[in-house]
Amino acid sequence: MKKVFFKQYIKNPKLTGSVIPSSSHLSKAFIKNMDLNSGTILEVGAGTGTITEHVYNKMENKSKLISFEIQEEFCNDLRKRFPESTFINKDICDIYDILDLKTIKDIKYILSTVPLLSLGKKKSLEIIETYKKIMLQTGATYLQLTYTPFSPFKYKNFDMTCKRIETVWRNFPPGNILKYKIIK
Ligand SMILES: C[S@@+](CC[C@H](N)C(=O)[O-])C[C@H]1O[C@@H](n2cnc3c(N)ncnc32)[C@H](O)[C@@H]1O
Repeated sequence: MKKVFFKQYIKNPKLTGSVIPSSSHLSKAFIKNMDLNSGTILEVGAGTGTITEHVYNKMENKSKLISFEIQEEFCNDLRKRFPESTFINKDICDIYDILDLKTIKDIKYILSTVPLLSLGKKKSLEIIETYKKIMLQTGATYLQLTYTPFSPFKYKNFDMTCKRIETVWRNFPPGNILKYKIIK
């Protein structure tokens, strides 16, 4: 998996955002902060599927995983490994063109590992606008992986709160999980 990931990093460094996949420690830290009993988990940026695999194995029957992954090579591999799950080889910003409103309304968590800082300001703001729209419609909690301890965007401008809920040192680079909610 590490080789495949590194190959994609060489091809698309800004999109991939890291040289190696997340560790199992980081994946477990995400799981620890999620209720996987019901509802849909929207994973954004599945990569080689380290976190996908942990979510998939812990999910109850009533919950569902939908993963967006923009790089085709990653997506094709994930479909073979997790045939019962849904992998969409598109930019997350296209979600409203791809999924119907009924499916979107069931989203309980946005689990995002897209590298907001390396994607650049314009793209990252477009992604955050998309997440905000989903959060407003569903009340979903948005969890974001970052390699810095602070928010990569001005969350107050998006009427969100932000809390760092985990720092995982056993990851390269060390990762933080930030939890965002819409201010009611
Ligand atoms: C840092 S990697 C994380 C991969 C994996 N989740 C992990 O933690 O090991 C970020 C992933 O986000 C994907 N990505 C970047 N921009 C995206 C977008 N707009 N829509 C969907 N996926 C995107 C990249 O292709 C890459 O696989």
